[in-house]
Formats: sequence, C-alpha cells, structure tokens
Amino acid sequence: MMQSFFVLSGDHQELARDELLSISKSYDVKSKHLVNSRLVIITSSIPWKKIAKRATFVKFAGNLLGVLDDISELEFPKSDTFACRVVNLSSKKIDALQIEREIGTLVKKKTGSKVLLSNPSLTVYLIITDSKSYLGYADLLEYERPTKPIKYPTELDWKIGRCMINLSLLKEGNAICDPFCGTGTILLEAESMGICSTGIDFDSKMCDITRKNLEANGYRPRVINSTYDYISKIKDEVDAVVTDLPYGTASRSSTTPKKIIQDFVSIVPSEMSLVMVYKKGMDIDDLDKAKKYEIYRHKSLTRVIAIR
Ligand SMILES: C[S@@+](CC[C@H](N)C(=O)[O-])C[C@H]1O[C@@H](n2cnc3c(N)ncnc32)[C@H](O)[C@@H]1O
Repeated sequence: MMQSFFVLSGDHQELARDELLSISKSYDVKSKHLVNSRLVIITSSIPWKKIAKRATFVKFAGNLLGVLDDISELEFPKSDTFACRVVNLSSKKIDALQIEREIGTLVKKKTGSKVLLSNPSLTVYLIITDSKSYLGYADLLEYERPTKPIKYPTELDWKIGRCMINLSLLKEGNAICDPFCGTGTILLEAESMGICSTGIDFDSKMCDITRKNLEANGYRPRVINSTYDYISKIKDEVDAVVTDLPYGTASRSSTTPKKIIQDFVSIVPSEMSLVMVYKKGMDIDDLDKAKKYEIYRHKSLTRVIAIR
C-alpha cells in the first residue's frame, strides 16, 4: 500500500474531495483516506500520479513520507536537484522561507542533491495543518490538456465536466455517453483520460463542432445527430451517462428545460451511473435521493451537479 498526499486548490471543497476519493476508489475499492483541512491523504495501491493526473482541483500532490516528528529519521529519494516548499494549511503565521531553508539544508546533507528553485527534479513538501505537519515529495507530473479550437457561449467549464466524469467512478477503457454534448467538453475530458465517449445532440451544428473539437486532438468522434432518447439504442455500450442539460434560452431546446430533465432521467436505466449538471431550481422528485453539489456562478445562476 502507498500513501499519497493531495492538497486541494480550495475551489468547491466538498466536490474536490469527493472527486479525489472517487478516482482512487475507481482504481482500488479498498483505498482509504484521511481529510485534514485541504489536505487529503490516500492509502491505496495506486501511485499518486495516476490520481493526480485526473483530479481537477488538486494544487500539490506526491508521495507521503510521514509525519514530521523527527526529520532525520525520514528517507528522502536521491535526485539531481530539489527544492523545498512549505504549504501552510494551519491558522498559524509561519516563516515559510526560513523553514524551507532549514529543511533544504537537512535534505542536502542526507541525499547530496543540489538545491534548484525553478524546475527541480524533485520537490520536498512540508504541509502544516493545525494538528500535524507532514512531509512528502514529488517529481515532475507531465500532463497535456486537450485543446478546444471551437468554443461556444453555452459550453460547460471543462473543470466541472472533468470532475463529473471522475464522480461517475469510471476508468480507462470504460465508456460514457453525453446525450446533450454541445461542443463536446465532456467528451474531450473523457477521451483525455482514456475513457471512450459517445455524444448525442439534436442540433447538427453542435454535432459538427464536437466532431471538429475531438478530431483536433486525434480522438475518433462518435457523435450522433439525434434527440437524447437515442441513448436507449446504445445503452449496452455505455457504462455511465455524464451530461450538461439545457438550462436557458441561449441553448436551442426542443421543450422546457425542466420537462427535458424529467423525461431524460426517466429513460436512463436506473442501474446506469448518471451524473448531470443543471440549473438550480429545476429539481425533480426522481432526484430527491441523489447526491448534489451546488456551484455558484453569478447572482442569477447556480448550477447543481447531481449523482443518481
Ligand atoms: C447546455 S448545452 C450543452 C453544452 C455542452 N456541455 C458544451 O460544453 O458545449 C445543451 C445542449 O443540448 C442540446 N439539446 C437540447 N435539447 C436536446 C434534445 N432534446 N436532445 C438532444 N440534444 C438537445 C442543445 O443543442 C445543446 O447543444
């Protein structure tokens, strides 16, 4: 078992934490976690990079070495260059620079590695919380974001789309369907994580945009120009439905947004994982028991992510 640390960025804290836990559970159902302020420690068989590459709201991550009781007992990996970084999640004021210098001197002595402040091959982290301080380290995390050449005013924030896919507990090789795909934000995020995707949209212009956005990244587009009920025909090929429902006058819609939610939820098989985002105020009885997260956008728009 490995212990990894993840420091959340501070945006949408509950959502961020649940996303992280869903990713680790999707790879290892036995993974365990401990949450302390914005710090999440995961004990699992999964290397930290596999989780961090997918997680949307993680600022720092790496291998956890242990609690800072006696730094001289901890074994640091050897690297050409390293830097120390203090992450203060406590309510105390601290002199981060001074602490970084002190730890740097100790690590240098122990490993013989050279200090390099920009682009070091290893970063040693000291994470200070009100109860304990933890030491960890990370080498570089290489990761490429998909590009999106064609944008649109009603497109979903990619971070929300990515997070929703992660909440669906899927992993590489699984398949999602977004039956209101618009410009393909959710499909792009899924493909970038190795999850196969199928999009449906009743607007042929949106289907073309999605195809182009997927092709620009070398992903093979599977986009069907139809109403969302086409999903019934492909349900055996889909592990989860992740979607962003029409919510306003800006997105062309066949009927009222609330009626769409009602009809749509009723046709997605109950055994299929469903993660959807819609405008607050459009709740329906079928989603009473769903886990929900609110995302405030501006005074007249709060969105709700629901997991059924
Ligand atoms: C909120 S937008 C989705 C935006 C998308 N997530 C993105 O990032 O671009 C909703 C989409 O649903 C489509 N739509 C509306 N009613 C539909 C229906 N009955 N069946 C299929 N698609 C529909 C619209 O054409 C629109 O592209």
